Order: sequence, then C-alpha cells, then structure tokens
Amino acid sequence: MVQPDATVDSGRFRHVLGHFATGVAVITAIGPSGPAGMAVSSFTSVSLEPPLVAFLPDKSSTSWPEIRDAGTFCVNILSAGQEQLCAQFARKGLDKFAGVSWQPAPSGAPVLDGVMAWIDCELTQTFESGDHYIAIGRVLQLEASELGVPLVFFQGGYGQLQLPGSAEVGAAGDRSSGVSLEQLAHATGTDVSSLRRYATSTEGVVDELVGSYARWFRDECLQIAGRTLRATEAIDELLRASFDSMPTNRVAIMILQNERQYLGQRPEFTYLEPLEHDLVQVWLTTLQRGVDEGEFDPHLDVSLAYRFIRDVLFTVARWYTSGSGETPRQGVPVAEAYRSFILRGLLRNHESSEPREATAAG
Ligand SMILES: Cc1cc2nc3c(=O)[nH]c(=O)nc-3n(C[C@H](O)[C@H](O)[C@H](O)COP(=O)(O)O)c2cc1C
Repeated sequence: MVQPDATVDSGRFRHVLGHFATGVAVITAIGPSGPAGMAVSSFTSVSLEPPLVAFLPDKSSTSWPEIRDAGTFCVNILSAGQEQLCAQFARKGLDKFAGVSWQPAPSGAPVLDGVMAWIDCELTQTFESGDHYIAIGRVLQLEASELGVPLVFFQGGYGQLQLPGSAEVGAAGDRSSGVSLEQLAHATGTDVSSLRRYATSTEGVVDELVGSYARWFRDECLQIAGRTLRATEAIDELLRASFDSMPTNRVAIMILQNERQYLGQRPEFTYLEPLEHDLVQVWLTTLQRGVDEGEFDPHLDVSLAYRFIRDVLFTVARWYTSGSGETPRQGVPVAEAYRSFILRGLLRNHESSEPREATAAG
C-alpha cells in the first residue's frame, strides 16, 4: 500500500490545490430562518442524464444546515466584478443578504442580480467525506447570460478570463466585467464588422442598443398614457407593449437588467435615469387613476402594485432573454397568462378566492 507523503499537510494541500483555477458560485436557499447563502468554489457538474450537480460544504458551515433543510437550492455563478458579493457570502455571522438584490428562482431560492448563470436544484443526496459533505442536486431549471465573463478564483485570489477580442473592452473603459464585441455580435446575431461599422467601442454599441430601446419604449409608454383610455385599458396596453417588446429587444433588455448598476456609474449613460423616471411615473399615475376612478381595488397600494408588476416583467424578460430556445410564439401564452393575472389582481371585485393579503393588489 502506498503511504501518504508526510509533507502533505494542510498548508501544502491548499497551496498545490490552489493551482486549480475555478469559478465561484454562491449557493442560496430559503432556509427555516430565511434566505441563506455561502460562496463556494467546489461547485461541479456531476451527471448529464439525469442532470446533477454538486458542491462541497464544510462541516463547520452554518449556512449548510439551512440549505439542507430547505431541500432546494440555487447555484449562482458569479460574474467578474462580483468579488465584493463573493466576500459578503464567505463571511460568517452577518446578514449576508444586506444590500443584495435578488429575484426568486422557481424553487424560491434567491437568484442574485448580475450573476453569469443560475442553476435551480432539488437537493437529492448528501454524503460525508472528511471534513466536508458532498451535496448533490438535481437540476430543476437553469439560465445563463450570454454577456460578460465569470469571476475566477486562482491561488487564493480573484481574476477574470481574457477572452479573444476582449482587448476592445480595455480600450473602451476600465470596467471589470468585460463584454467583448464578439460576445455582443454573437448575442445580437450579427457579425463583428457590422457592429464596428457604426460604433468604435463596446460602449458605443451598448449605447446604440440600450439607448434606442430605452427611448423608444419610454415614448411608446408615454403615448399610451396620453391616449383617452380607461385605466384598465391603459394598464393592459402597457403590459402588452412591455411583453411585445421583449422578443425583438432581447439583447437591450438583457444588458439593462444585468448591467444596470454598471451603466448607472458611467457618465455617458446618465440619460437612462430620466427615461426610467418617466416610465415609473406612467405606471404609478395610471394605477392611481384606476383607484381614483373606481376601476381598481380601492385598497390598492399603488407603489407595491407597481413593484409587483415590475418584478413580473423582469421575470418574464429574463425568461425571454435566457436564450433557452423559447421562440416568441411559445412565449405568447405565458405573457398572456401573466397579463390577465395582473389585471385580475388590480380590479375591484375581482373573482380571486385568495385571501386579500396574498393577491397582487394586496
Ligand atoms: C472563493 C471562495 C470559495 C469557497 N469555497 C468553499 C467551498 O467550496 N465549500 C465551503 O464549505 N466553503 C467555501 N468557502 C467558504 C465559505 O463561503 C464560508 O466558509 C461560509 O460562507 C461561511 O459562512 P457560513 O458559516 O454562514 O456557512 C469559500 C470561500 C471563498 C471566498
């Protein structure tokens, strides 16, 4: 039997194993005490059929029992630039979700904003091995962003991949999560030379895509608000305009959703804020008009209803932009179902049998 070398102590083990570069994921769940999460580099795929993944929680982890008891978890693959988020989820004994925005995955587990990809899972098996557990999850649903690059963990530090073509990113600005022209070309279904023809930098292309979509959509909504429609009709039109815009503006919406924080920090994108302000006002005033004119539930909390609608639109947009092969045609029944659900939630005397506080309007 081969004896282990006496020099294989934990320091040497860490040092040598640190030469294996990995991504970083945050495993999240809604545990018995609320949202839980931990940063891991031990995430891996396990099986294709059935689709299984694994991660290895340390036995000393206090988040692991929460994740285990939840029975479902979401793997959030971090993007370059999310080092702070990673550090927050690697610290013990603090509110790891403080200041972190997220949306629920189908299982309810948090999908953190701006991640490269997420994989929603059901915990199916756990094994004990040394000072860690091996947790296996069966994949329930998953999505990836086609833009950006992942956060990389190597020799105890963070880095990012240098993809071919990402030189333009450096030339265009000092952003930490790069989007290359190649990636944009791939995501927009065009070729790099056509993109270069009307923009000299990635930011220029992003501006072209995002700016023209945001302006067009704001004008579309203002135009709906300016028509003499009943509030219900106006909300219906606004929802239709939102859903209809998704299939043809996938990339602009994807950039706006995933990169909003970054865009907000760049002086050349400050024009987005007043556009968004106009949009919020259109929704809020139309909702308020519905209450004042007696069409909507008189107890409707207008700001909460707006947030609910916005979150639904975000979820549907994510679904459209996931590139999961859904065609606009397949998306129509889903958008229709959301639309009628929202409208029913707003209306006075709607036929829902749900308790009041559980309704969209509530
Ligand atoms: C880059 C990175 C990778 C990590 N990978 C793992 C891992 O694979 N397994 C693990 O148990 N902890 C890992 N950790 C440490 C955990 O994130 C940390 O111990 C945990 O969040 C502590 O909080 P808890 O007690 O709430 O679980 C990693 C930390 C970092 C920064």
